[in-house]
Amino acid sequence: VGKVGLIGHPVGHSKSPEIWNDAFENQEIPYIYLPFDVSTGDLGSAVSGLKSLGFRGFNVTIPHKVSVMNFLDEIEEEAVEIGAVNTVINDGGRLIGTNTDGEGYIQSLQSETGLTLAGQHIVLLGAGGAARAVGTALAKAGAAQITIANRTMDKAEALASRLQRWTRTNAILLEQIASPLQDASLLVQTTSVGMSPNKEACPIDPELLHSDLLVSDLIYHPRQTRLLKEAKIRGARVHSGLGMLVHQAALAYQRWIGKDAPIKQMMETLDQSLK
Ligand code: ATR
Repeated sequence: VGKVGLIGHPVGHSKSPEIWNDAFENQEIPYIYLPFDVSTGDLGSAVSGLKSLGFRGFNVTIPHKVSVMNFLDEIEEEAVEIGAVNTVINDGGRLIGTNTDGEGYIQSLQSETGLTLAGQHIVLLGAGGAARAVGTALAKAGAAQITIANRTMDKAEALASRLQRWTRTNAILLEQIASPLQDASLLVQTTSVGMSPNKEACPIDPELLHSDLLVSDLIYHPRQTRLLKEAKIRGARVHSGLGMLVHQAALAYQRWIGKDAPIKQMMETLDQSLK
């Protein structure tokens, strides 16, 4: 049986093993996906252990997405640009790091909303790891302007300067969001505000939302955050984070297994497991 998996700390809450193993079973692919809780000090030995055990690859999650790069043989451009690795491919003993988060997000957004990214005026809420992955992909996909709004200004500025090589960017504090949001066509929410169990939390004043916006929230638990509910009430279109989780996995599936992933089925598995 072929082996793939996930390293992170913690990993107990992850929906990935269920999504992956269901997909393997349904497609009759003789593979298994296993989660491993790896503490920071054990990262190097865990990576070489997975290689010795013949794993075809593994996903990497918090807190190892950056530090795992020290233990790989090659880092692909996507991962260099984002500054983090979420997927490792074991190519006959050579460990290749890549990142499917940004492209997975774009595929989800485009397939579920039909949005064309060229020319969009985007407000990006947050400046952490998720914002870096998604922001990089949006900038490369042709966004006209990305305004990064964050609770902490220096992190917003750092991300704005990172994305400058692809598009026009600026950094603001969350409190200054009213005017850029007025002119924006896409609002992308990447902070943890509104994530279960704090389901009633909203990262911005809902009164600022308007019907010319597409509001995209990376959170998938709950399926529909308070922000998305408030956006819908005001006539905006909405997009949830569920699809990103599936599409980033589907891109890893293609690399490891060499076949298209059963995206629809993976969506249904995830949807069920969140109920
Ligand atoms: P991730 O990898 O999920 O993006 P992260 O790198 O820790 O996680 O980033 C978390 C993001 O959520 C940051 O933008 C953070 O703001 P700061 O840079 O100011 O820390 C944001 N965030 C987390 N809790 C928040 C809160 N209560 N209000 C506003 N922003 C918050």
